Amino acid sequence: MPSTKIVSVATLIWLLGVAVATGQTQGGNPHTGNEAAIKAGMALFRFRCADCHGMDAKGVRGPDLTQIWASGRTDEGLFGTVRNGVSGTEMPAVDPRTSDDEVWKILAYLRTLAAPTLTDQVAGNADNGERVFRAQCAGCHRVKGRGGRLGPDLSRVGNARTRPMLVRRIRGAVEDSLSGYEPVTITTKNGQTIQGVKKNEDLTSVQIMDTRERIQGYLRSDVRNVENPTKSAMPAFGPDRLSESDLNDVLSYLSTLKGFDPSAPK
Ligand code: HEC
Ligand code: HEC
Repeated sequence: MPSTKIVSVATLIWLLGVAVATGQTQGGNPHTGNEAAIKAGMALFRFRCADCHGMDAKGVRGPDLTQIWASGRTDEGLFGTVRNGVSGTEMPAVDPRTSDDEVWKILAYLRTLAAPTLTDQVAGNADNGERVFRAQCAGCHRVKGRGGRLGPDLSRVGNARTRPMLVRRIRGAVEDSLSGYEPVTITTKNGQTIQGVKKNEDLTSVQIMDTRERIQGYLRSDVRNVENPTKSAMPAFGPDRLSESDLNDVLSYLSTLKGFDPSAPK
């Protein structure tokens, strides 16, 4: 009798140990709520991440990070994203000199910025947005393998860009062009002009995709002029071309484009 009691106490202690251990790995971040760690995380974030995600983490070139918990991410999943980056996107793996502990501190800081709900999301009609997109945008943009190639593939744009940035891009308020899509105009020696986006260039040649999606290479010595206009190759869609309500619907549609998700059921 006394021996079974000893066994059960040992089992109990063992079980408690397991519970504490799994509690730690599932409960995620050891630094959540720790003021000093959060401060250190903020400094690291500003140094390593703010360029793309913004000082307030509300997104610039990269997405708004104040919504990541609201959209159901776990601490472990986010840790992996930061440690390893997202392959095939602009999101890099964190600098290898940043320790795991420092990654947790960055996440502890981001946790303090977490917004409970999607604040700037005005529900639009994504089905109508898709129709508008097919009519006005798909000629230049591919989504899931369909559409034109003059502009970038937008299959992941719902993850990659913030709503205010999309609005600026669509309304035509963005000055700088994405690399690989800079506008270019070539004037040949016989005076013909060819417009497109610049894919590559060096001192002696330029490679472009013209507006008919043909990749063309030109020797600088063979053409009269290579011009780099500042106006994007994407037309500006002002309210005359795209009403506020259609824009809102297009944004709802774009927010559904999250690319290939390996964990999604087939
Ligand atoms: C060069 C720009 C760049 C830098 C630097 C960068 N990110 Fe990103 N980040 C991105 C982009 C772009 C995405 C969207 C990737 C995609 O298409 O899924 C992203 C995605 C993420 C995501 C996933 C968001 C989601 O909703 O799934 C997290 C989390 C994240 N970044 C955190 C960080 C942290 C923390 C740092 C600093 C250690 C950092 N990023 C540095 C550009 C960047
Ligand atoms: C004539 C071709 C063309 C049409 C039509 C067009 N776009 Fe674009 N789009 C482009 C090009 C080229 C770029 C890259 C331009 C740049 O960076 O200046 C671009 C860039 C974008 C970007 C930025 C992508 C990123 O990764 O940041 C978004 C978003 C976008 N377009 C959405 C739209 C929407 C929505 C429509 C329809 C209302 C549309 N486009 C119509 C050519 C087009």
